[in-house]
Amino acid sequence: MASTLAMGHPWWERGVVYQIYPRSFQDSNGDGVGDLAGIERRLEHVGSLGVDAIWLSPIFPSPMADFGYDVADYCGIEPLFGSLDDFDRLLAAVHARGLKLLLDYVPNHSSDRHPWFIESRSSRDNLKRDWYIWRDPVIGPDGERLPPNNWISDFGGSAWEWDEATGQYYLHAFLAQQPDLNWRNPELRRAMLDVLRFWLDRGVDGFRIDVLWHIVKAEGLPDNPLNPLWTPRDNERDRVFQVNSTDQPEAHAITREFRQLADSYGDRVLIGEIFLPNERLVAWYGTPDAPEVHLPFNFALIENPWDAPTLARLILDYEAALPPWGWPNWVIGNHDSPRIAARIGEAQARVAAMLLLTLRGTPTLYQGDELGIAEVPIPPDAVQDPRELRQPGLGLGRDPARTPMPWRGDEAHAGFSTAPPWLPLNPDWRTRNVAGQERDPGSMLALYRALLALRRERPALAVGAFGLIEASEHKLVYTRTSGDERLLVALNLGQAPLPYAPESTRTGPVLLSTLGGTPEPGILRPDEGLILELEPASA
Ligand code: NOJ
Repeated sequence: MASTLAMGHPWWERGVVYQIYPRSFQDSNGDGVGDLAGIERRLEHVGSLGVDAIWLSPIFPSPMADFGYDVADYCGIEPLFGSLDDFDRLLAAVHARGLKLLLDYVPNHSSDRHPWFIESRSSRDNLKRDWYIWRDPVIGPDGERLPPNNWISDFGGSAWEWDEATGQYYLHAFLAQQPDLNWRNPELRRAMLDVLRFWLDRGVDGFRIDVLWHIVKAEGLPDNPLNPLWTPRDNERDRVFQVNSTDQPEAHAITREFRQLADSYGDRVLIGEIFLPNERLVAWYGTPDAPEVHLPFNFALIENPWDAPTLARLILDYEAALPPWGWPNWVIGNHDSPRIAARIGEAQARVAAMLLLTLRGTPTLYQGDELGIAEVPIPPDAVQDPRELRQPGLGLGRDPARTPMPWRGDEAHAGFSTAPPWLPLNPDWRTRNVAGQERDPGSMLALYRALLALRRERPALAVGAFGLIEASEHKLVYTRTSGDERLLVALNLGQAPLPYAPESTRTGPVLLSTLGGTPEPGILRPDEGLILELEPASA
């Protein structure tokens, strides 16, 4: 009965997503940058982890000003990564393993080298002028030329770039090489929906949608309110509250169109990248009659401190905010955030893995976290991330999370490439790599595999109800239940042993410990997470 329960859920509810950052997964042609053929070669690793779907960060033709998030052709493949034939082969290989493949759809902005923008900037009366957001300057008190409003790019500086040739500014929420598209223009909208069709027709199983809450701006482009708490030590983006440049009601109608299109292809999924507080975030599920994305990314575990009371609060707040039809999701790492093991240390990263894979909702894993890769020092002359280059010293660098996968300890460049890789490897790659961890039953990789296998076996973990039992200073205890199956998860976030079960809870055998070895009855060892069977409620 139990597994039928899980099977009643669509794949994207019971499954697990694995994010691949293509530049850093596997190089197959010796240029130091990963590619599609490399991913195909390493599918065995993804399959053996026990995940269900792969999300690929952008693989489209791009000048790489923002490493693929500046798209110059939405319907092609960047030559560094391969060809459309390589893509079709990869997709077939992914499907042959029973896995799904999600692409990264970047609707807020294109590259400034996209033919649409080249046309748009060619003259004020070009037919594609209105596909982007162009405005006249404001003339200051001394006759000086000023940007149309006070919006700030997420990477620092004004969000407006002056275009001498046509005497107007264009808007860019990110780099100047990433002009924002104008979703209020019906032709642009049609063209961008055609992009989704193109990939859906090829057989992709869905999309992660980049900065979805940015895609429409308030009519008239009014100034954003100033943040009175901002100091020059903070990210420049946060000087203003982005209330007029993001999260507009019109974006929901567009998202509904994305969803209708995806649904017309059957079993596809849309995951929205949306950074908003819970009450605004959950609006992106839409309603049962007018659904929007299946999963608005929940970044709570990335954005909050790692302590038990905070975790308990954010889990309960999120669960309470979800509409009855909204399926939860969780993530602890991605290509934009510090590595989980760098943030909380390797011992707690094991506990975090257990948390991620035992919470209610679809987890997304980020490549390399299954090895426990931690901080990777990036020498100043090796920095690649454009955000870090624009605002050095604020700790905003994303390169340390984007370093190549270490596959082996006994091959040059960890088996990632025959050439020096585009970013350095983790300094401990000779000991921290896939082949080495495969041989070690106590490794982080072994833990991830065990957690994923248990999640697959136990519907209570994949789709069961969540119940918080206890959150104290260093301890988080909760149940996952489905039908007769009742499991207890107990996590020790501290350095001292702790009893894990309140007196009244009758626990059965331990199914998994993050530490391995023999758990002590009734005790959580320091840094230990446990999954246990609970005796049936009625027994
Ligand atoms: C979010 C992506 O994850 C990030 O890497 C990128 O720089 C921005 N969106 C802009 O596309």
